[in-house]
Amino acid sequence: MAHPSKHYTMESRTGTKVVLNGKSYLYFAGTSYFQLHSHPDVIKAANDATLLYGIGSATTRALTGTTPLLEKIEQKLASYFNTEDAVYLPSGYLSSLAGLKALDEMGLYQVIFLDEGSHYSMEEGATATGKPVIPFRNRDLDDLEAKMKKHLAKGQRPLVASDGLFPVMGTLAPVRDYLDMTLKYDGVIWVDDAHGVGILGVHGRGTCEALGTPSNRIYLGATLSKAFGAYGGIIAGRRDFIHKIRSGSVMTGSSSPMNAAVAAGIKGLELVQESHSLRKKLWDNARYLREGLLHMGIKNEVAFIPEIHGTIPIFSFAHRDASTMKKIHNFLIKQGIYTQYTSYKGAGSEGVLRVVVTSSHKKVEIVRFTHTLKEALRSLS
Ligand SMILES: Cc1ncc(COP(=O)(O)O)c(C=O)c1O
Repeated sequence: MAHPSKHYTMESRTGTKVVLNGKSYLYFAGTSYFQLHSHPDVIKAANDATLLYGIGSATTRALTGTTPLLEKIEQKLASYFNTEDAVYLPSGYLSSLAGLKALDEMGLYQVIFLDEGSHYSMEEGATATGKPVIPFRNRDLDDLEAKMKKHLAKGQRPLVASDGLFPVMGTLAPVRDYLDMTLKYDGVIWVDDAHGVGILGVHGRGTCEALGTPSNRIYLGATLSKAFGAYGGIIAGRRDFIHKIRSGSVMTGSSSPMNAAVAAGIKGLELVQESHSLRKKLWDNARYLREGLLHMGIKNEVAFIPEIHGTIPIFSFAHRDASTMKKIHNFLIKQGIYTQYTSYKGAGSEGVLRVVVTSSHKKVEIVRFTHTLKEALRSLS
């Protein structure tokens, strides 16, 4: 996430404690929601794969770049998301580009309606298709409906593109409503659920599972670089769609990924799939932090369904203005706690304080955070 004032270099593994610019901090930031990036099994898998297969295959998937690790991870992804097939891409950033292009080639839409709070990669991917891109206000159904009425010519089909879980504010896209609206025009939906996969839904399949919206009209792209403790983009779905992506330019035009990243992804997927306690701990910590903050009178935007809302490990809030939030941020830093003050997309012009709790945080660490935040607020008056 962008930091508007000072640059911090992370000089340790990520975890609940990190070293930034030579100083140790209790860490409530980032996106490693289960802290799997530092899990010994994930690190071992990456090391073993490098020793066995080297750094990478030095060729693209169009030639001899498909390795046993790639075949394995793609099978695992299809099984994890319960889809016909899945594909692993060089980065999550490229997922939207590859996915939107494939859906265009399949002739499934003529106009893209883009939630304007969506990630940069989706905006760029949408523009790259050459189709008209109509932005609508963040999670605003009325605006979407009005824009569809205005911009769809007779017989044209829409594609609604949105993040699933918005990473800055921790809000959810109302995917069910999008689906109802899109179906009226025989359209499709593209969800970039980089932050929702792994952590939301009974099986960890993300926002659409949590909202109970399985549909063959919803297409999913995401990443292994957050909850799964690894790196690389992912798209899961129907066989014909995945086939289009495999034969598309993103896959055939880039070197196949580093073996360490793929092996880490396989292990991360296994850990998340097998260990239900990870999600339980995360949800538990999310509720605990949320209650602590609400108790102090700090509120953030609510998502659509309260039961899900409580389980989201991102709690962002604005307090007065940018300069006050910087003061709070600096107070926390002085006390050895790092959380983000960010102006990343979705944060608004003054920015927000973004607090992230993970499954690895201990209750006592969460209490230390809320107590210190209370002192920071008191110090303002
Ligand atoms: C919503 C969203 N989509 C895509 C990406 C890009 O994923 P990656 O970093 O794995 O390339 C990010 C951020 O990293 C993101 O927040």
